[in-house]
Amino acid sequence: MKLANKKKQNKEKFYKMNLDERLMYLQEKTNLSANDIALLRNPSSLTFVNANRMIENAIGVLSLPLGIATNFVINNKKYVVPMAIEEPSVIAAASKAAKIANVNGGFKAECREALMIGQVQLVSLPVSLATARRRISAHKSEILRIANSKSTSIKAKNLQIKDVFDTSPLKMGKMLVLELLVDTKDAMGANTINTMCESVSSRIEELTGGRAILRILSNYATRRMVKCRAIFSKSDIGGIDVVENILYAYSFAYSDVYRAVTHNKGIMNGIDAVALATGQDFRAIEAAAHAYAARDGKYRSLSNWYKTRSGDLVGELELPLAVGIVGGSASVHPTAMVGLKILGVKTAKELATILCAVGLAQNMAALRALAAEGIQRGHMKLHAKNIATMAGAQNSEIDIVAEKIYDENDVTPRRAKEILFSIRHKER
Ligand code: MEV
Repeated sequence: MKLANKKKQNKEKFYKMNLDERLMYLQEKTNLSANDIALLRNPSSLTFVNANRMIENAIGVLSLPLGIATNFVINNKKYVVPMAIEEPSVIAAASKAAKIANVNGGFKAECREALMIGQVQLVSLPVSLATARRRISAHKSEILRIANSKSTSIKAKNLQIKDVFDTSPLKMGKMLVLELLVDTKDAMGANTINTMCESVSSRIEELTGGRAILRILSNYATRRMVKCRAIFSKSDIGGIDVVENILYAYSFAYSDVYRAVTHNKGIMNGIDAVALATGQDFRAIEAAAHAYAARDGKYRSLSNWYKTRSGDLVGELELPLAVGIVGGSASVHPTAMVGLKILGVKTAKELATILCAVGLAQNMAALRALAAEGIQRGHMKLHAKNIATMAGAQNSEIDIVAEKIYDENDVTPRRAKEILFSIRHKER
């Protein structure tokens, strides 16, 4: 290969670029403005004044590394994916898995509806559950009208009523739960749904004679499912033995809760990192994902893995994902807004497909590393830099110390300090 070509190819490799080159690349590939780029250069873009408006008792702002996962092609569209995470190897692993998936057309993903459920809990009913249910049903359109008077864009589409049997040790008696099904469109929707639930509760109390206690959305977003699938060629992941080992790893995660939690943690490494970078409520995403993993009464792997006739590996991931591109911190946090711009997503559904694909990529990368050489070697490379810094290394010393402790396979603060001492001693 000619030198100029090779140089050009290296230049295209994101991980080989310096910060200026990376930001220039982003400006070329996305529609970031000069202001957005300036914001990325400023690690404390969220000012204290804004932070103090977002939460109570603010004392500062916590920063996290923000990186880019490359190679993602989802539904035939290329994405540059922002990820906010403190853990080494995660971004490199996702990018690598995405590259392997591309050989077979990348990720195919879909997210059909964006319905969230808002719940109103009714207790102390003076009438039977059947009567209460009948009275609510008879006033369905009125209840929906009250709920919808609270929002111009987000709409309650329907309502359902269910009895909840009190299985708690308290035995508080019968309860009826009214559920509003709300089309949140491009918002996550929590605030509007909570307002809707509060707004309909007094009318429901009048109709049934009961008392409305809780009036809040459910984060178990089972009407906001997203799924994705990708094929990874056996030759690209290390051969038939690695595929076989990955299938053993999957069956372990399907069958054993102790492994399933760690397996799903790997998936959430990807999902949470994109969620954080785009200002999503990652606690809501986590809570729903884990409930879904336990949907058949046993906590299992969120992903499914199998092989094709020709021995290639197929991965599928399906989970509830409540995300938004308007409202919440996606519209307040300056860096999260840039994160969304980097992705260039047009709808919340599109954003959900990206989170799902990154989760699947992350899972495949972790399983591949675990099923082949183990993950510690990759992890230790960057961790060595942290250890070198912790040992007191500065500037160029960090790389020298990190490389040495990594090569010696002794990534410990003790060894880092010894090496640092010898470097400094030699210099004098
Ligand atoms: C580490 O953050 C994530 C993994 O433990 C996931 C897994 O074990 O599948 C590597």
